[in-house]
Amino acid sequence: MDNFDWNFPTTLTYGPGRLAELGDITKEHGKKVFLATYHRVPVLAPLIDRTIGYLEAAGLEVVVFEKIEPNPRSSTIDEGIQLFKDSGCDCVVALGGGSVIDGSKYIAATAFSGGNSWDYVVLGDRAPREYTGAYPIVAVPTVSAAGSEVNAGGVLTNWETKEKSFSRSPYRIPKVAIIDPEVLATLPLSITKDSCVDIFSHQIERYLADEDKSEFADRVTEGLILMLKDAFAKIVADPTDLETRGTLALCSIFSWQGLQALGRMGTIPMHSIEMPLSAHYDMPHGHGMGVVIPAYMEYFADKLPHRWAKMARRCFDVTAEDDLEAAKQLAPAVREWFASVDSLFTLSGDGIDDSKFVQMAEDVMRMFGDPEKDRISSIIPTSVQDMVEIYKLAL
Ligand SMILES: [Fe+2]
Repeated sequence: MDNFDWNFPTTLTYGPGRLAELGDITKEHGKKVFLATYHRVPVLAPLIDRTIGYLEAAGLEVVVFEKIEPNPRSSTIDEGIQLFKDSGCDCVVALGGGSVIDGSKYIAATAFSGGNSWDYVVLGDRAPREYTGAYPIVAVPTVSAAGSEVNAGGVLTNWETKEKSFSRSPYRIPKVAIIDPEVLATLPLSITKDSCVDIFSHQIERYLADEDKSEFADRVTEGLILMLKDAFAKIVADPTDLETRGTLALCSIFSWQGLQALGRMGTIPMHSIEMPLSAHYDMPHGHGMGVVIPAYMEYFADKLPHRWAKMARRCFDVTAEDDLEAAKQLAPAVREWFASVDSLFTLSGDGIDDSKFVQMAEDVMRMFGDPEKDRISSIIPTSVQDMVEIYKLAL
């Protein structure tokens, strides 16, 4: 097992109806609230109004910012930072999915530390600026996907340069996350399905990355995958099932917060390979992961076959005794599972051809790899040509 440090600083407030406690919870952290959320589309409007009502009923002033888009754009986030500062807010309530919570993290920390949001993202050789602190964040997730409500990460898209990147900072970990299954049940089924695929992407990104370093982490991850498979089928059958909404919420949180990787901290760059799909085509992240995952699994099945085989046998009923044979059966098994929950996608099905594959792969190399060595990831070294081949398999 690798050495590690791990903690879980966010308070989880779980249960149907507990959004009603938002005002009292937020009062512990500030007086003037910056409420960040998506555009006020009809499906969200009643939830936004209820949220404002709970905050105002607790005597809080509320500044509403209803502008964050899926794949949040740095230009929009900078607008939010300016509004936060101009209006004298002192805390953020993030009402939305990972995009809103990620965007809120950049607002809370950049308003505190200065500069623009894009100054802080990882970008090739450039040393990202470092935060000096952040205003407190209370998160109300409407989507169970990345577990952004309990972690330090945040992804941002620069629409001008067509780049998507990330940063991590412990300053930005939300103080409280209100996990209310009634709120989560407002999510449309199509986004719920993409979110389930995203949860799976987080479970496998560490599992498939390492040697057999931590049986603890393997067993936790396998349990989470089996739980996800069960819950994914149930929520597709009945999107109003609050118990399953709760299960998915915990599944998303504990599939990416580190518990699933204690003792083996490596990653494979599947998320990096998806990022150009969001940056060039504005593809929703979970959908993009659904496109990339089977192709990646197929292309690299022979690199760490014992890891691929372990997951295939323990989570996907593969019985082949030979590791390489079992490893090769993982991608077909995952495709079959995605198809069973109406979530099997291809690039051509989304109207995307191969015209930008080389550019997309070079973007990934420039932002996250070592262009001189033509390599990203030290665990499974991946070249520009490898990434192009993966995009081709995803066609
Ligand atoms: Fe993700």
